[in-house]
This record gives sequence, structure tokens and C-alpha cells, in this order.
Amino acid sequence: MTDNLFQSFALNDTLELSNRIAMAPLTRCMADDNLVPTQAMADYYAKRAQTGLIISEATIIRPDGQGYPNTPGLFSAEQIAGWKKVTDAVHSKGGKIFAQLWHTGRVAHPHFFGGGDVLAPSATLVEGTVPRMRDLTYVTPKAASKDDIAQLVADYATAAANAIEAGFDGVEIHGANGYLIDQFLHHDANKRDDEYGQTPENMARFPLAVVDAIAEAIGWHKTALRISPGAYFNMAGDARDGDVFKYLLGELEQRQLAYLHLGLFDDSMEFDYLDGNATDFVRRHYSKTLMGVGGYTAETGSQAIEDNRFDLVAIGRPFIANPDYIEKVRQGDELTPYSDEMLAELV
Ligand code: FNR
Repeated sequence: MTDNLFQSFALNDTLELSNRIAMAPLTRCMADDNLVPTQAMADYYAKRAQTGLIISEATIIRPDGQGYPNTPGLFSAEQIAGWKKVTDAVHSKGGKIFAQLWHTGRVAHPHFFGGGDVLAPSATLVEGTVPRMRDLTYVTPKAASKDDIAQLVADYATAAANAIEAGFDGVEIHGANGYLIDQFLHHDANKRDDEYGQTPENMARFPLAVVDAIAEAIGWHKTALRISPGAYFNMAGDARDGDVFKYLLGELEQRQLAYLHLGLFDDSMEFDYLDGNATDFVRRHYSKTLMGVGGYTAETGSQAIEDNRFDLVAIGRPFIANPDYIEKVRQGDELTPYSDEMLAELV
């Protein structure tokens, strides 16, 4: 019933996945205090190496991108060495792993990087507190200057090169879930009146600059992107957002990403400005390799691939609860249900 999940899938001429299941990026807040991946993280990822593609937990490109405690980085030699242990452990078990590159933009907190500006497209505040650290209230960000933007693009490219040095098979740019890149793409967070705001072309300029700079640094075959056309986390939707994503998808169609990934917790959500479901919206406007996600089981994921809604399925929470998810699904064994308490420990 889930046979199509266990077919190999070529992302391109150089990257072949042994099955169509990806492990979704899952922040675990378990890096050490220098944001270096630990041996426990290497063990955790290696246990899941049978997955067609592991996408790492979101990994910050530079200190001011941090919005959660103990999230790993890819900007210091120590962090690169720490990740090398992870990628070696995954590769030694025959797996493949991409690094998810992250800057949290307006939900970064100066507490994590010793003070200074929080950068975002515009000075729009998110009401609320840092998850897992309820005493830290979000601050009003500074609208990034053109120099800030140029530096951010360069720092994304450096982090991508660092990921390759650390042995990753590629990178997934975190352009989803209300973080920096997504903030440029939604009117709720982008109020700029320069060439980075107001029109679809302007709002997509920074995201596309990051994509192009990374592809230039490491190659298109190693570059992937995650996006959230439907605003659902730290972001309000706007009727005009649909046109921004149509434009972005048209531009991406002309590029050669390894894959495009939806950023969603629940793929049954509907968005009026996308004429319904976000995945189906992307499929209508983008014909290349698409990874779906959000509440899937092996059975429903297999069916969605069969129905040609997407090509690969990412599984998140079930992988936290079942390190041996792939084997269990292959054998038809019962899965351990996920619960939030499982986040306290890396298993
Ligand atoms: C997530 N998700 C997520 N997404 C992302 O792009 N980067 C990340 O680091 C994280 N971190 C993260 C941590 C935890 C604990 C959860 C539960 C989720 C979202 C994740 O990749 C996925 O989209 C959702 O979990 C929905 O898929 P499932 O869990 O329904 O299969």
C-alpha cells in the first residue's frame, strides 16, 4: 500500500535518494552553549539514516539569527567540526543529509547574541515571547538597510559553503514559517517602500538573491528551498500575498533547485488568497520536484504521491517518536505515537 514510498528518487544527476521519505527539519535545542552539535545529535541523526533524505534541524547562519535556545550554528570552525561528526555518522550508515539554513529575522532575540539590533524587512513587532523562554518578550526589529541586506545574502552563501565543508549533501534554505526570508514575502511583515517592498517582484528580491548566491557558492544540485505561501505562524495572511508567491514560483521555475519544500504543520489548511490548499497552489504554479509535509502518515503520503500532489513526503513528529520509522513502515509495524514530552530528550 505504501510501495511507491520505497522507490528511489533522483533529485538530479548527482543526488539519488533511496526512498521518497524525508525527515522534516525539527528544532531540538540540544546544541552546546557555543551552538556546536554534540555526539548525542550525531547518534540521533545516524539512527534515522535509512530515510531517503534527512533535513537537519534549522541551523543559524550567524549569531543575530538566533531566536531559540541552543539551536546549532554554521558560522564557526567549531560548529563545522561538530556537524562533520553528524554528517560522517549519517553517511557511514548510508544516509543523506541536507542542512537547513536559518535566520529568524524579527523573532530573533538579543538575549542570545549579547545585545544589538534584531533585523527584519520592517520595524514590525510580533507580540509574544520566545518559545521555551517565556520571560523573553520579542523586541521591535530594525528595518534592514541595503547594506544589511547585502551582508545577509553574503552570510547565507558563506553558511552554505560551511555546510558543504561540514560534509552535508546540500542545503535547504529556510524560507518558511514566519522567519526572515518569509518575512520579506508577506505583506504583514514587509512594509518597505524601496526595491524590497510593495510589489511581488520587489518582495521576492531578497529571497531570490539568497537562493542565487547559495547556488552560485555550492551549485544548484545542492540547493533547496522551503516556503510558506500560507501564513500560519508568527504571521498574518494578506489578500495580496498570493501574487507575491505566484511571482516567486514563476522565478523558481526558471531555476534548477534540488527540490522545493512546503513549510506547514497541517496540509489540510486552506488559505483564501491561495484559492485553497498551499500545496496545491504551489503545484499549480511550479512543475519541478516538490516535497509535501504536514500531518502525513505513510499511507496518506503515499496516496498524495500517487495522486501527483507532490513527489516526496516529509515526516516530522513521527520521526521524533520513532527513530526506526522507515523500518517500521516498511514492515507494517505499529508506530509509537508522538507526544510533546518527547522533546525533552534526544532519542
Ligand atoms: C518543527 N518544524 C520545523 N520546520 C522547519 O522548517 N525547521 C525547523 O527547525 C522545525 N522545527 C520543528 C520542531 C518541532 C518540535 C516540530 C514539531 C516541528 C516543522 C516540521 O518540519 C514539520 O513541517 C511539521 O512538524 C509538520 O510535519 P508532521 O510533524 O505533521 O509530520
